[in-house]
Amino acid sequence: MNLVLFGPPGAGKGTQGSVLAEKRGLTKISTGDILRDAVRAGTTLGIEARKFMDAGELVPDSVILGLVREVIEDAGNTGFIMDGFPRTIAQAEGVDKMLHDMRKSIDAVIVLEVPNEALVQRLSGRRSCPNCGAVYNVYYDKPKQEEKCDRCNSELVQRADDKRDTVVRRLDVYKEQTSPIIDYYQKHGADVHFINGDRDIEDVQSDILKIVDR
Ligand code: AP5
Ligand code: MG
Ligand code: ZN
Repeated sequence: MNLVLFGPPGAGKGTQGSVLAEKRGLTKISTGDILRDAVRAGTTLGIEARKFMDAGELVPDSVILGLVREVIEDAGNTGFIMDGFPRTIAQAEGVDKMLHDMRKSIDAVIVLEVPNEALVQRLSGRRSCPNCGAVYNVYYDKPKQEEKCDRCNSELVQRADDKRDTVVRRLDVYKEQTSPIIDYYQKHGADVHFINGDRDIEDVQSDILKIVDR
């Protein structure tokens, strides 16, 4: 099963994708996580990507497509969940071609729908663990100890691009450059599902599982 988890910033792609990957033994491919790791490691890729990320803009397609090819190849024969990718029509076309060459395909596209007001609130409350990647929310999904990761006890951090102005820009970029992909997939006959993501994490997950386990 190869899936695309799609939706605006803060829709819950990372949250849902991590639970699903664990439950069904799938590989989660998050281009955002890969880029943030590169930023933290200070690699050439990280230095280049950071300028775009901190401004809420997209990292160039050529950079992203190169990254994803490697990860999909590494995923071998386990299925994968793409989180935050593709994000432009050029990326969607690029990955289609790449998968075709590898004799793979996308089995379902799951779109998480959440209104903008809720997204802004979620992103302002998000905290993540720089060590193990766990994600929390000070409003909806608190860690047991304040500002500490439940899993590895590291100090939690706020993402640099979760500042209000950057969030507003990311939402615009999603609308302009990313949301047209839904139409692209529908026109190309993909199995597209829309899920109301503005509910409890468990309820959203249970709807996703219904699609995955059909
Ligand atoms: P990326 O890391 O992909 O960020 P994003 O798409 O903006 O999405 P987020 O990670 O912010 O949200 P999410 O949907 O994963 O939500 P989460 O589960 O964390 O990309 C970051 C940047 O990298 C981009 O701006 C771009 O610069 C670059 N980039 C990445 N991929 C790229 C690509 N392919 N091409 C070009 N550039 C690229 O949840 C959010 C919060 O809400 C959390 O605190 C969570 O606890 C909480 N929450 C989750 N679900 C619920 C719920 N049901 N109810 C209440 N709270 C909830
Ligand atoms: Mg995410
Ligand atoms: Zn941790």
